[in-house]
Amino acid sequence: MNKLKVALLANAKENAPKFNGMPSDQWDDLDSKKTILSLVDAIKAGEHDCEFLEGDSTLVESLKQYKPDICFNICEGHFGDGREAQVPAILEMMRIPYTGSKVMTLALALDKPMTKRILHWHELPTPEFQVFERADEPLDADMKFPLFAKPSREGTGMGVSAKSILHNEEELREQISQILNRYKEPALVERYIEGREVTVGMVGNLRGAVARRMPHDENLPRIQAGLRFFPPMEVDLTPYFETDVVYSNRLKVDLADQLTYLCPAPLDDDMVDDLNWYAAAVFRVMGALDVSRVDFRLDANNGWKPYILEINPLPGLSPGISDIIIEAAAEGIGHTELVNMILDTALNRYGIGKPARIV
Ligand SMILES: Nc1ncnc2c1ncn2[C@@H]1O[C@H](COP(=O)(O)OP(=O)(O)O)[C@@H](O)[C@H]1O
Ligand SMILES: [Mg+2]
Repeated sequence: MNKLKVALLANAKENAPKFNGMPSDQWDDLDSKKTILSLVDAIKAGEHDCEFLEGDSTLVESLKQYKPDICFNICEGHFGDGREAQVPAILEMMRIPYTGSKVMTLALALDKPMTKRILHWHELPTPEFQVFERADEPLDADMKFPLFAKPSREGTGMGVSAKSILHNEEELREQISQILNRYKEPALVERYIEGREVTVGMVGNLRGAVARRMPHDENLPRIQAGLRFFPPMEVDLTPYFETDVVYSNRLKVDLADQLTYLCPAPLDDDMVDDLNWYAAAVFRVMGALDVSRVDFRLDANNGWKPYILEINPLPGLSPGISDIIIEAAAEGIGHTELVNMILDTALNRYGIGKPARIV
């Protein structure tokens, strides 16, 4: 392949805007300079030119100057309900190719209730839910405690702690108020799934027809060609059960390098097949491209039935730390190789860098 100019587009934590009354976790989902430089190095190791460009309002100018052949996009955005879709929207406007999912998918995936409405419509298993825009909205009769509350449009366990598990009306009202006040976005309340914490990462793009839901006929083939699934990873939360029975912001941010990650997760082959199938179905119905990670809880009270929590079309790519990096490593795929797999998948999709066809 020819040497290409690749712009690595990211939002560096250290470049993020600061404002009065900013919550301490405001920029927890942005990337460190260390991660950004590791991605630049990985792309250079793939024999390309690469430069980091900050994904803020300076981007249009910096793109005009650098003139990339393609962008490797990991921008989470700063503000707004579609913030992960803003940079791709600019790239579409400027007709510059980029890795990963496009505008609609990124905006939808950032919004957990919107994602769940789509999953529900496709009969994919996701915990029953209700969205609160005010703290005094009545709870639906079919929503039974224990419940779980989280912000609608955050990541990295932001707003998630042991207090997110709700046992009664009082806790429910308290948590909804906190979420509304702190994040200024609706609170998502779900049935609490007690159980195991598993995530499935994948690279590729679906080819041909893919069923949108688990086939009711067990004998129907499960078509998921084009996606490469990494072994599922389980986060072993048992050492933290006294304080955290869920994958909280504290664990994801403060204790990330101390957690026990089981990869491949100790699951039987049928369960792995089901998880991969669900992950492919979520990828398809959300219109994801090139790479994603789907988070599940396995229900301890219902034969470990998998429930889909969310899809992360911009999964973290920090060397040695991020879930999909650990999953790829379990198959002997290092950080550099994974980053270049994602890039090559996008290049293939756009047909860039292929030898000119002889007519
Ligand atoms: N309905 C639920 N039942 C039990 N635990 C949940 C539920 N929803 C979220 N969690 C816990 O909170 C964590 C973060 O939730 P998730 O929806 O994946 O958001 P994030 O974008 O912060 O990763 C999950 O990994 C899980 O441990
Ligand atoms: Mg998650």
